[in-house]
Amino acid sequence: MDQYDLVIKNIKTLSADVNIFVKHGKITKISSHLPNYNAKKTIEGSGLVALSGIIDSQVHFREPGLTHKEDLESGTKGAILGGVTSVFEMPNTIPATTTQIAFDDKMKRAKGRAWCNYAFYFGGSPDNVSELPYLEKSPSCPGVKVFMGSSTGTLLVEDDATLEKILQNTKKRIIVHCEDEYRLRERKHIAIDSKDVRNHHVWRDAQTAFMATQRLLKIAKKYNHPVHVLHVTTAEEMELLKGYKDIATVEVLPQHLTLFAPDCYERLKAFAQQNPPIREKKHQDALWKAIHAGVVDVIGSDHAPHTIEEKSQEYPLTPSGMPGVQTMLPIMLHHHSQGRITLEKIQQMMSFNPAKIFNLKNKGQLAEGFDADITIVDLKKTFEIKNSDMATKSGWTPYNGMKITGRPIITIIGGNIVMREGEVLGTPMGSPCQFQM
Ligand code: DOR
Repeated sequence: MDQYDLVIKNIKTLSADVNIFVKHGKITKISSHLPNYNAKKTIEGSGLVALSGIIDSQVHFREPGLTHKEDLESGTKGAILGGVTSVFEMPNTIPATTTQIAFDDKMKRAKGRAWCNYAFYFGGSPDNVSELPYLEKSPSCPGVKVFMGSSTGTLLVEDDATLEKILQNTKKRIIVHCEDEYRLRERKHIAIDSKDVRNHHVWRDAQTAFMATQRLLKIAKKYNHPVHVLHVTTAEEMELLKGYKDIATVEVLPQHLTLFAPDCYERLKAFAQQNPPIREKKHQDALWKAIHAGVVDVIGSDHAPHTIEEKSQEYPLTPSGMPGVQTMLPIMLHHHSQGRITLEKIQQMMSFNPAKIFNLKNKGQLAEGFDADITIVDLKKTFEIKNSDMATKSGWTPYNGMKITGRPIITIIGGNIVMREGEVLGTPMGSPCQFQM
């Protein structure tokens, strides 16, 4: 009789009702037929749906340097509670991840403490341009992150000349925060004079985002270099990006698909402050349209925790960003329950595409031979999102009190059940993601 570590019986996938057989951390067989077998663990999957493990390609976990907001343990715990099996973490920590020493330090810190699989971006800066050809070769680095506009932390590449050098010196995809620093500086008085968070999206307006995205795309085209445009927020950028699908992949965040101005600022004050900002409904509608038109490739959370005290200061002293790794999939499943998006599209943008875009090995597909990273969801389960259920050290979510339909029920990492019905199980099982050059 065949021997397995884990068998998931009678479960739906996007294409069929199947049984999934797992051995040594890999999916060894997917079959509609259920033969006699021996397994260390069996999951009865009736009524549930198995998705290929959810990948969050944009999180800020704050370790080292800002661990009062989050650390690799609490951040990855939130991930598995939200059905996320791999995270790619951003470099704006203290110190910033701009050197091999800083990168290796993060790898060491994650080992044995990460509840899900992990990877770390390098930050591109004027100081490390010449080292990037070597740095980006780290197998667990998905690519180099560039901030064209300043946000949280000190990383900044405001000028085209440095950006061009970064593109010339790298092969992996460059991941970019597009806000034009010159325009941000010119208009900062709007925030300072008004002290009103309702002006956050007036200061960092649609034109600020558009200008940076336009500059980036021109340079990417010049060097024929792949770029990933993070958290796109405007109708105008989406229109532009349509013409660059050969070179630019596009990310959208759940918060930009769910919250909108001015409502979010009235309700949540600076807890809705995020860069690039939450904008008016017409931009949100354009983001949904772009998803359906195939312009958007990836949904990421941009999980960016700040404490309640920090967020309660007077604007614009308040930092930008909100937690989201634990709520990303539930919020998207809720949009699915409301008929706004198909499950196929969710799996594509939250698992298959991030794996494909970043050349992530053995992940992103529920298929034989792939890693057994599996997210099992109950599409009918209704629940209320609560601050008290959040694993983030920051202790809050912008969706507190929201009643939603659709919930990740089981998270499986490398064949190990690490989350079941909101409970974290066993020990941290995350391992480093591996990328091909
Ligand atoms: O709102 C944001 N917060 N946007 C970013 O780009 C950075 C992030 C953070 O790290 O706090």
